[in-house]
Amino acid sequence: MKTLQNKRILLGVTGGIAAYKSAELVRRLREQGAEVQVVMTRGAFEFITPLTMQALSGRPVHTELLDHDSEAGMGHIELARWSDVILIAPGSANFIAKLTYGMADDLLSTLCLAADVPLLVAPAMNQQMWRNRATQANIETIMQREISILGPAEGDQACGEVGPGRMLEAVQLLHAVEAIFQNSMLAGKHVIVTAGPTREAIDPVRYISNRSSGRMGYAMARAALEAGANVTLVSGPVSLQAPDQVNCVKVNTAKEMRDVVLSNADDADIFIAAAAVADYRCEEIAEQKIKKSEKTLSIKLEKNPDVLADVANLLSSPFTVGFAAETESLKDNAIKKLKGKGLDMIAANLVGDELGFDKEDNALEVFWSGGSLSLQTAPKEKLARQLVHAIALNYYEKHSNKAH
Ligand code: CTP
Repeated sequence: MKTLQNKRILLGVTGGIAAYKSAELVRRLREQGAEVQVVMTRGAFEFITPLTMQALSGRPVHTELLDHDSEAGMGHIELARWSDVILIAPGSANFIAKLTYGMADDLLSTLCLAADVPLLVAPAMNQQMWRNRATQANIETIMQREISILGPAEGDQACGEVGPGRMLEAVQLLHAVEAIFQNSMLAGKHVIVTAGPTREAIDPVRYISNRSSGRMGYAMARAALEAGANVTLVSGPVSLQAPDQVNCVKVNTAKEMRDVVLSNADDADIFIAAAAVADYRCEEIAEQKIKKSEKTLSIKLEKNPDVLADVANLLSSPFTVGFAAETESLKDNAIKKLKGKGLDMIAANLVGDELGFDKEDNALEVFWSGGSLSLQTAPKEKLARQLVHAIALNYYEKHSNKAH
């Protein structure tokens, strides 16, 4: 598996001779499947051209905070939301000082303030500038804010001096980015995820279904995998590819989905129901294609099993997480479902013309007994990682309470 598939890296390049190494870094990040958005400071232009970075990243480089074209496309707040991680490489002494004081006088420093994502800085400067007490004090300050400092390495410098201040090599920075996405929160846990729509046949060529793309469920499966879980993904018909290490079982109908889930539920620790299961199926499926002979056609529907409720009702049920797609009264409806179905957690979102189903971004309100969490609008992959994190915390809280 490519280690950075679907990951969105915002690479900030500031002024320094090490900027040439950032070109190699973009290539390495993309080889691992990452989408890379380069943001350059004015100082960086002196060392490497935006055109080079654009060619390597496959995206126009952003440089200006108040650029009408960029703001009309992906403005600074969208860029901040888009990113999963910000890596500043090279990080100049000047930029580190700006970070220390929370300045926002150019695009890159503004993004560092506006994004709520891990921030990594790979310093690169003359050894005396690195050793300077001002720089050291700045580094100490930003490390207290959980900004990760990668390097610098010691050795020969472009200025002819020898000492600490060389930017780490591209491959070392790649590993540091990879480490951000790998964690062991769910190591050894078996997680079942349902995803996508179901299809309920009307006749041999027609069916009832819905607009679910499966993206949220597949993103949940990947995020659980990256958190170290063994993942079973029970998926309705979608055009997505599951990661190799996930045990993906394809189904069509709600009944098939229920059967596969229940046959895997015995040793499951966590069940996440992200599928948009059809609530009803045809009472009778026509054996032959229905002809358009009548003026009107009635199809009688009967209720499908509720996969999520069935799992939550098991004698020794796993930690169960439901989704709720609502068009109104989000909180009330979500809490009703949480209690009604006997769930441990529920992630609710508004659906309608502009929101939800087949969209790239989403926002979630997550509820559990005694708590809630708002996850702001973001790409579904990013939301999935945040949600898996919240699920893991609640799962362990529940189990530590049981142990006492
Ligand atoms: N779900 C399920 N099996 C069903 C219907 C729903 O497992 N037959 C799960 C979904 O995967 C989701 C949750 O139940 O996690 C909520 O589904 P939703 O359609 O929002 O709610 P319903 O319970 O079906 O209620 P309603 O359609 O009336 O809002």
